[in-house]
Amino acid sequence: MKRGPDSLYRKFESIRFLAIRDRPMLSRFLQTTHPSISILEKLRLVWAFVHITNQVRAYHSQAELLEVTSAILERGGRNGVTVVEAGAGKGASTAKLSLAVRAAGGGVLHVFDSFRGIPCNNEIHHDMNGRTIRFRKGAFTGRLRSVQRTVEKYGAPEVCCYHRGWFEDTMPKFEASVDVALFDVDLLSSTRTCLRYIYPRMVKGGMIFSQDGHLRSIIKLLEERAYWWDQFGVPSPRIDGLGEDKLLRVFC
Ligand SMILES: C[S@@+](CC[C@H](N)C(=O)[O-])C[C@H]1O[C@@H](n2cnc3c(N)ncnc32)[C@H](O)[C@@H]1O
Repeated sequence: MKRGPDSLYRKFESIRFLAIRDRPMLSRFLQTTHPSISILEKLRLVWAFVHITNQVRAYHSQAELLEVTSAILERGGRNGVTVVEAGAGKGASTAKLSLAVRAAGGGVLHVFDSFRGIPCNNEIHHDMNGRTIRFRKGAFTGRLRSVQRTVEKYGAPEVCCYHRGWFEDTMPKFEASVDVALFDVDLLSSTRTCLRYIYPRMVKGGMIFSQDGHLRSIIKLLEERAYWWDQFGVPSPRIDGLGEDKLLRVFC
């Protein structure tokens, strides 16, 4: 392989800098067959993810985003894939998800966020080690224009559709059928709102990921049978990762 500054070699070299904890997922990602994308394109995608994380403040691990990307690629095809992101932060995850949608053959990435950070709240959380966590108003703010610029620079702006405002206001108007959703919203109240409006929009075989599986209140909500019956009239779906992983997977 040619060793020039712009050569693929350099790009693939940077993959060596993936955190050790991300490497098992990287190898699973590269080994899984996704019809819409070649191994070379996958490597390019991974390189782009590393590059984005180096440029933009990101609140996720590469392994988490690669797993969500894998689910998007599996569901891609001729009709395109519809993905929801709730919680964009500074736009690093948005840029990556947009590249995943493009690589899946196109579709739409619906991005929901206040673009003013976390709402005012009184929630007190505990993580799996019993540590107390509070999410203060305005935390993680990424302004809409700034997130859009990040996506324009590093992602695939043509697939993005932005829904600015509190989830409570924007999600009730949302009507598309969704293949994959990623919630990274920190608050129990926000997770409840996302589930309330997005779960009924999920296609059969769709996947909801939550990046808040380190919070006890979120685990408790998701494992409560009565919640699923009362809210949606369904038995609890299969949920992988409860009590073990930060990234939870709800099978729809
Ligand atoms: C941790 S950040 C997301 C980080 C991003 N996914 C990443 O990995 O870089 C959480 C986001 O959720 C948004 N958020 C939380 N609750 C919300 C609500 N009720 N309505 C709108 N946005 C909300 C915040 O504005 C913030 O951008």
